[in-house]
Parts: sequence; structure tokens; C-alpha cells
Amino acid sequence: MKGLILSGGKGTRLRPITHTGAKQLIPVANKPILYYVIEAVRDAGIDDIGIVVGDTEPEIREAVGDGSSFGVRVTYIRQAEPLGLAHAVKVSRGFLGDEPFVMFLGDNLILDGIKPLVDEFRREGPHCEILLARVPRPQEFGVAELDGDRVVRLVEKPKEPRSDLALVGVYMFDATVHEAIDAIRPSARGELEITDAIQQLIDRGRVVKHHLVTGWWKDTGKLEDLLEANRMVLTRAKRSMEGDVDAPSRVEGEVILGKGSVVRDSILRGPLVIGARCTIEHSYIGPFTAIHDDGTIRNSEIEHSIVLARCVIRDIPVRIEASLIGKEVRIQRSQLKPTAYRFMVGDSSLVDVL
Ligand code: TTP
Repeated sequence: MKGLILSGGKGTRLRPITHTGAKQLIPVANKPILYYVIEAVRDAGIDDIGIVVGDTEPEIREAVGDGSSFGVRVTYIRQAEPLGLAHAVKVSRGFLGDEPFVMFLGDNLILDGIKPLVDEFRREGPHCEILLARVPRPQEFGVAELDGDRVVRLVEKPKEPRSDLALVGVYMFDATVHEAIDAIRPSARGELEITDAIQQLIDRGRVVKHHLVTGWWKDTGKLEDLLEANRMVLTRAKRSMEGDVDAPSRVEGEVILGKGSVVRDSILRGPLVIGARCTIEHSYIGPFTAIHDDGTIRNSEIEHSIVLARCVIRDIPVRIEASLIGKEVRIQRSQLKPTAYRFMVGDSSLVDVL
């Protein structure tokens, strides 16, 4: 069985971060989402993995390499344009051959992995197995309609969903999916939809199984979901202190402090993770915060946030929360006159001021 991880796409909902980087490489608890995905596929016993890439191919190649650091073999498959999930399968035909495969969206996190599901698929051998989860806003997802235990209809982002069962971003197929994909046409939004391909399988009388996911999963395509993923992963953090904390500082709960980091006169209230070579001074770092390597936080308070590498945050009088801060960002209190806000922010940024 092979693995196919989709790591192309546009990432419009995570702009401006995705103007300059792949969304699948945004770190959750200081580790790129894509790494969790590769590990989940590997832990299901699959070591031959294709990664579908788009414009961010160089960055993904740099982060993942040939896969040997994960104990897998990675083949990169270029998708010239993000023309849909089924299109991504189509361009991967050469890599997949006629083998069954698990397709995993590179921005989805399933905390407890997929091994039992892949085992079930291998054992029972349906043509397709989909994962479903009950969600509060099904209109944002592919939605499944069941008749008893049978999947009868799949609709992509329906305006009036007929159920609250959303497709989770993990699918298992055998080779019959390729003829189904050959039979579909682009949808109204111009994409070859995987939901249409699965509907083809159903209409052709193929066996499409479903599995209701009860554990935690998240599609991290939006800011609030990314922050929640960060929160969930951090709830499992275990204390590990490799940096240096001075006597006036207080460390509470599960705190991970990376090598070469120094904490001076500050409060760290876990669960949280601080990467390597960070400086935390006269500050409060609250629960569910992930600060990546080489960051500086001085005279400031932050919680429930993701801060990417090499950021400087200093002298901010109000606590920062629920924020995603890109690489090498400086947020600071101005000493200049006249007293004013001064911004230099990228396209599609969001700044909430008091
Ligand atoms: P989506 O989140 O559905 O699409 P997107 O990444 O373009 O984001 P947005 O809607 O915010 O613009 O994609 C799910 C995953 O599949 C994600 O990891 C990107 C990947 N993908 C591809 O590799 N090729 C594609 O053609 C599409 C549509 C997505």
C-alpha cells in the first residue's frame, strides 16, 4: 500500500502567512503539520509516500528531503496548478500504479493516527473507505449522506447540508478510483472534486465504507483551527527543560524549553513550548503558546498563540492572545514622536488594535 500526501494548494484562508510559505509547514507545537502527517502514514506501516506539491515545492523538499529522516521513501509529484483533490490523484497516477493507497491532506491532523483504519481497509478490502466526523458547520466541508450504514451521497460544501457528517481529510482507495476520476468533470468552482469521484464509485456499485472518527482531528486550513490544533497537541506536552531559568522566574505546568534558551524574571505557565536560543525577559508566556527558535519576548505577555522563528516582541502593554505571528516579525512599543501606530504589514494581514 502506498501513501499520497497532498501538500500543494493555494492556502488562501491563511494569508498572509501563505504568501511566503507553505501552510503545511506552519508549526503546531513547534513542529510542521506535514511532519505529523508523514509520521501518521509511516506509523500505519506505509513507507512508500508520494507528496503532491505546487509552487511551494522547494520549501517542502528542503523540509522533508528524501524522507529518510522519517524512515520512509518520498517521491515528489508536481501538480502544475491546484485543480482539486481528484486532480492531485490524477497527476500521481504514475507513482500510484494500480496499488491501493491512503490519501492524506497535508494540512489535516489526527491526534491518534490512522493505523487501525488502514489495518481495517487492508483486512476488509473495500474499493474505498472514507472517514467522517460530526461537525457544527458542515457547509464548510464535503458532506456525506447515509442510508442506514450505506454512504449514498457526497456533496462538496453544500449550501443546505443534509447531514452533519463531514469528510475528514483521509481517504483510502484501490485502483478503481482512477476510472472514477477519469469519468468526472470539473465542478462549478473549476476543481476535480474527490467527492464527485467517490460518488462515481457509489453510482457504479463499488463498495464505499465509512468510519466515524470519534477522536480528535482538525483541518488546519484556518487560523482558529490552527490555534486549536496547537492547543490540542500541547495538552499532551511533557515537561522538558533544556534552557536556563533564573531564580526569580516561575515555571508552572508542562513547559518545554529548548536548548540555549534563557528565561529571566518571567512566568511560564504551561502547557507551552519555547524553541532553541530564545530570550524571555520580564514576560508572561501563558498556556497553549508555541514560540519557535531564536525568538525574543521582552516586557510582554502572550498566550494561546503561535509565534514562528526569529520574532521579537517587546514592551507591549496589553496581553497578546489568539495570534499567529509569521517569521522574523517585530512587534514593539514605539518611542518615537508623534505618538502613533506605525505599521508595515504584508498583504491580507489582520491587525486588531485597542
Ligand atoms: P484545501 O485546504 O481544500 O485548499 P487550499 O490549500 O488551496 O486552501 P484554501 O481553501 O485556503 O485556498 O486543500 C487541502 C489540502 O490539499 C492542502 O494540504 C492543499 C492540498 N491540495 C493539493 O495538493 N492540490 C489541490 O489541487 C488542492 C485543491 C489542495
